[in-house]
Amino acid sequence: MQLMTMKDAPKHVGEVVKVGCWLTNKRSSGKIAFLQLRDGTSFFQGIVLKNEVGEEKFQELTSLHQETSMIVTGKIQEDKRSAFGYELLVEDVEVVGKSEDYPITPKEHGVDFLMDHRHLWLRSSRQHAIMTVRNEMIRATYEFFNKEGFVKVDPPILTGSAPEGTSELFHTEYFDQDAYLSQSGQLYAEAAAMAFGKVFSFGPTFRAEKSKTRRHLIEFWMVEPEMAFCNHEQSLEVQEKYVAYLVQSVLDHCSLELDTLGRDKEVLKRYTELPYPRISYDDAVKMLEENGFDDLKWGDDFGSPHETFIANHFSKPVFICNYPKSIKPFYMKKHPTRDDVVLCADMIAPEGYGEIIGGSERETDYDTMLANVKKQGLNVADYEWYLDICRYGDTPHAGFGLGLERAVTFITGTEHVREAIPFPRLLNRIYP
Ligand code: 4AD
Ligand code: MG
Repeated sequence: MQLMTMKDAPKHVGEVVKVGCWLTNKRSSGKIAFLQLRDGTSFFQGIVLKNEVGEEKFQELTSLHQETSMIVTGKIQEDKRSAFGYELLVEDVEVVGKSEDYPITPKEHGVDFLMDHRHLWLRSSRQHAIMTVRNEMIRATYEFFNKEGFVKVDPPILTGSAPEGTSELFHTEYFDQDAYLSQSGQLYAEAAAMAFGKVFSFGPTFRAEKSKTRRHLIEFWMVEPEMAFCNHEQSLEVQEKYVAYLVQSVLDHCSLELDTLGRDKEVLKRYTELPYPRISYDDAVKMLEENGFDDLKWGDDFGSPHETFIANHFSKPVFICNYPKSIKPFYMKKHPTRDDVVLCADMIAPEGYGEIIGGSERETDYDTMLANVKKQGLNVADYEWYLDICRYGDTPHAGFGLGLERAVTFITGTEHVREAIPFPRLLNRIYP
């Protein structure tokens, strides 16, 4: 008999099946035992009746330890009391792998302990739910951009360029040359947009940021669409449509996971309604000044308290548009009538989750771009290929980057970005 996965249980009610699973917990009372099981797709219970399996088997099963792996043979039946809705009436169990003294017990553990055991922590129902939502968001990302006519183009991870500034680069050697781990695939996506019109990339990016906050990872995954013949406002429309699509996909496909996480679905539904509000950087600064934030003046970048304050004024994600040129990267297009701001926007998630998207229209004027590259202190020779975009048939173009883990924390209602990636790389943590 083939092994079945419990996700398919609704199609097999009343049938006897074999499931490969692990024991997460158990309790028994004389004649009946309840095994809490997980098979990778679902969390469910197995009911063992002493009368059915016999004294010896019953004893063996009730003495198994947490995380023992096994193949359970049993009949699928509905279980109205559990959120999952199905259980197994156990006929037989074959132990596959023993487990003793599993470190993560049902009691509370500190975060450092859990992070040291991340490889095991991933097995818990909450972490499983977050990773399942993450997977759905990746699936929905490919679906959305494919439907919208984007081509996926994979930028390199080893690069000689520094789109987001040189201070946070991971340096490495590329034979006898210097190289860096990619901070963003954007510059390559721009070049590819001139070949394919609309492209997106999705890959790991690296920032040697000395930030130890609940929003910062050293290694994170970014979705970066780039569109030729597209201006700033048109890009914002794609961004809000994409984020609403992510939220709707998770609502449609991860209902059980949202329940496991205690995420309010009514709140999420609000985030599927378009458009999202837009506010200028100028007005955001005014709003902060009028509300007693005297630590901030025009020209400063926002910290998370500022972002949270602004976001709290809206019931949906909000775009803060047109930041000062001095605090944004060299490739952003200057505003048509102002020298001090650029055509860009950050999308700030509600409920204190902060910036989930950064994007802009891109500079197309060769002389301005060259001057920007020089002003940023970059080596022009390393950017000749990028300057070719301005040289050969440049078009208005725009794009953005969505930090997947930030978006996962927002949609799942998770406090810290470290739980939004299977094996987080954090300041001072590269284990496990
Ligand atoms: O705003 P950022 O730095 O923008 C870019 O990298 C552009 N090149 C994107 C583009 O236009 N193609 O980063 C984009 C997003 C942020 O909004 C945030 O969601 C996420 O990436 N991000 C991080 N996520 C986790 N940890 C970090 N250290 C992050 N830094 C940025
Ligand atoms: Mg940003």
